[in-house]
Amino acid sequence: MQKKQELYAGKAKTVYETDDPNIYLLEFRNDTSAFDGEKVRQLTDKGKVNNLFNAHIMQALEVAGIATHFIKLIDDKTSAVKCLDMIPVECVLRNYAAGGLSKRLGIEEGQVLSPPIFEFFLKDDALHDPMICDSHIMTFGWASEDEVRQMKELTCKVNDVLQPLFAEGGLQLVDFKLEFGRCDGNIVLGDEFTPDGCRIWDAKTQEKFDKDRFRRDLGDVVEHYRLAAERLGLVI
Ligand code: TMP
Ligand code: ASP
Repeated sequence: MQKKQELYAGKAKTVYETDDPNIYLLEFRNDTSAFDGEKVRQLTDKGKVNNLFNAHIMQALEVAGIATHFIKLIDDKTSAVKCLDMIPVECVLRNYAAGGLSKRLGIEEGQVLSPPIFEFFLKDDALHDPMICDSHIMTFGWASEDEVRQMKELTCKVNDVLQPLFAEGGLQLVDFKLEFGRCDGNIVLGDEFTPDGCRIWDAKTQEKFDKDRFRRDLGDVVEHYRLAAERLGLVI
């Protein structure tokens, strides 16, 4: 597979075309951004750690029967993925209160959310990713009613697979964000699953192993991403 021209550079990943029109290369960069790109730093080895972390999770989801865009690892920072027609919404699932939910509703961080909370956000940096609901998605044609239902179901299924996987490593999966796309008439998980897009806490001490270390200047960001990967059985 040959790497061709750059298609799109996001805040932390770059997408390249290949000689196969159905396959893209996803390069995980060291750039780390928070607050809609207001705070940006280069963190040594973050691209590599996130690429390997993502591959591990995507493969676990595939084994559990969830279709993902992941094809294979190409090198330390690059993975081959299926090309999807992305739906411009972010699906957030929360098992414990934290971050935006705590701020918005005044709920104490760490409160168990049972049943878990599901939220949609519009993927639009200029508008600061506003929260939206099913009705907005259907009225503005971002996805159909059936696609909305599938995104919710798949997000819950991902939670059912990953919560026990993280628990085995003594970790709480606090919340996470997913993005989906269309491929051959199916809804497929795209983007990434890394500590950049989820919250992971130690189950006993609530120590943070995710991007809140960067957002809140807690230090040792990539070291904690690597430690979380190790708890899931990965050696990086
Ligand atoms: P929030 O608490 O800031 O709303 O974030 C909920 C989850 O979604 C958290 O795990 C971080 C993730 N997330 C992203 O991956 N990208 C984003 O742009 C935002 C706002 C959140
Ligand atoms: N991912 C977003 C950004 O890069 C928001 C965040 O993670 O805080 O700005």
